[in-house]
Amino acid sequence: MKSSGKRWQGDLVAAIQVLMLLATACSRYQSVQNPAGPQAQRLYSLWIFLLIVATLVFVAVISAAFLAVRRASRRPQPLRQDEATHRGLTRIVAAATGMTVVILFSFFIYSLTTGRALASLPAKSALTIHVTGVQWWWDVEYVDTVPSRRVVTANEIHVPVGVPVQIIATAHDVIHSFWVPNLHGKKDLIPGHTTATWFQADTAGLYRGQCAEFCGHQHANMALWVVAEPREAYEKWYAGQLQTPPPPSDSLARAGQDVFLSKSCVMCHNIGGTLAGSHVGPDLTHLASRRSIAAGTLANTRENLQAWIQDPQSIKPGSRMPATSLRPADLKALVAYLERLK
Ligand code: CUA
Repeated sequence: MKSSGKRWQGDLVAAIQVLMLLATACSRYQSVQNPAGPQAQRLYSLWIFLLIVATLVFVAVISAAFLAVRRASRRPQPLRQDEATHRGLTRIVAAATGMTVVILFSFFIYSLTTGRALASLPAKSALTIHVTGVQWWWDVEYVDTVPSRRVVTANEIHVPVGVPVQIIATAHDVIHSFWVPNLHGKKDLIPGHTTATWFQADTAGLYRGQCAEFCGHQHANMALWVVAEPREAYEKWYAGQLQTPPPPSDSLARAGQDVFLSKSCVMCHNIGGTLAGSHVGPDLTHLASRRSIAAGTLANTRENLQAWIQDPQSIKPGSRMPATSLRPADLKALVAYLERLK
């Protein structure tokens, strides 16, 4: 008995810990209840309105049911069939029906106005970013009328604070859904079609996004980061992304570049300024400037890079990235090269 009691306590503590962990993780980075821009704020207000009204209706219905049961159990007698009772009951049903219509109509109007507000883009000079969903990562391209000023990256979107950002989205293979809960509502990415949505981050910060449409084996590991920063920091980041990384200056990184260009890496990835020009997988030109690898699955550290290159399938089973068997010295050199791609 004692051991089952202890186990029960252990389970309870573990459950509370998981809930606290979830609450902490959600409240900061990925939560519709922590809006950081006008789009998310509108959705949050709509949600609060629906929640309050639905709670009031729930309490009213449960109270009525409770009262009816109590009354019936106190005075078990058949319902009177006279005219006055009939009129009273009709009035109650009519009032409840009227209330239901009013409530549903208010929901309809509020949802409609919110939907219209979400669809409208407030500024013509919005920052435009193309996002393509691929199993299981995000291809990101900053649009500019001057081709040499276009920036291609993956799984991490930097935006200036207070500026409307238009996302033009599509998918490469199956339907995905672009969703950064702190900033905006979900938007489906459909192969062969483009859809558009927009958001604006009013508070600088790091916001986690997640694919919100089941898209296969690694749907849950298809995350992205939105980094909202002051204008100057954003401009600095953008200028850095426009630069072609200089050729590696030390022998270890040079050896790493040779490994990259002579192994299967070059078949799928692009690195600006080198012969690697494929766009099957994420662009690695500025890989070292990103926070995570494998679409938010791992922090971008040396150990994780090594583990990911050696055996991606054990980290993200089903991932399109094949394992690359390398001698330890080659792996070390390759990672040293990748770490210099700032
Ligand atoms: Cu992409 Cu789910």
